[in-house]
Amino acid sequence: MRMRNKPWAKPVLDECPYFYDDPFRPNGAWQNCFAKRQPMHLELGCGKGTFIARLAAEHPEINYLAIDMKSVVLASAVKNIEQVFQEHGRSDRNVVLTAYDIERILNIMKEEDIVERIYINFCNPWPKSSYHKKRLTHTRQLQKYQTFLRPGGELHFKTDDDALFEDTLGYLKEAGFEVKYLTRDLHRSDYPSNIDTEHEVRFCEEGIPIKFLIAENLRVRTLDEIEWKKRD
Ligand SMILES: C[S@@+](CC[C@H](N)C(=O)[O-])C[C@H]1O[C@@H](n2cnc3c(N)ncnc32)[C@H](O)[C@@H]1O
Repeated sequence: MRMRNKPWAKPVLDECPYFYDDPFRPNGAWQNCFAKRQPMHLELGCGKGTFIARLAAEHPEINYLAIDMKSVVLASAVKNIEQVFQEHGRSDRNVVLTAYDIERILNIMKEEDIVERIYINFCNPWPKSSYHKKRLTHTRQLQKYQTFLRPGGELHFKTDDDALFEDTLGYLKEAGFEVKYLTRDLHRSDYPSNIDTEHEVRFCEEGIPIKFLIAENLRVRTLDEIEWKKRD
């Protein structure tokens, strides 16, 4: 765990019942980490969790799994989740947090972990072309997500970075996603239900337009689809 200079973070995570310090343990059964079996959405690179806190508090009918590589920011996420759930008068927590490197996500997420929606907000743009493969929206990553993102499932992606956004359109096409909604200025768009992330607030204050899209996973894996319908 990387918790340099943040001595408060470890006790917060140690005491948090919905922080999983061993992301390998669920082994294809992340649903078992939640109180109820219901559709699961995933946030990749959740940071301090202001987005997932509000989303989860407003949607008790969804289970939210949020991953970030930095344990210290997940400790801040716990604090934010606790505050927002208190404000909503909710005692149950439909959120699970874990720390892991998303580039290696298939070590901890399996085909059985059926996900209906993925959120990626303000991931690192990795501007140098030699690092593009590290982008969380790169084709290579999208193909990994298709292991557990069900056919018809959605990717919701926000960024401040023009080049990353335009390149991501190509990555999506290459991996077999169809863009269903797109705006290059989210805060001046007709999109009805945006929740700001901590980075979004900062970029908006600087006057940078937020690029946003929703893309549907068209990759059909017949056996998975049948499995999913059996669970429905
Ligand atoms: C720029 S911040 C955005 C945080 C938040 N989503 C927001 O919009 O405010 C990117 C976050 O992604 C995390 N991150 C970047 N690359 C990652 C990776 N390969 N695996 C896990 N987390 C990653 C970072 O630790 C950081 O918290």
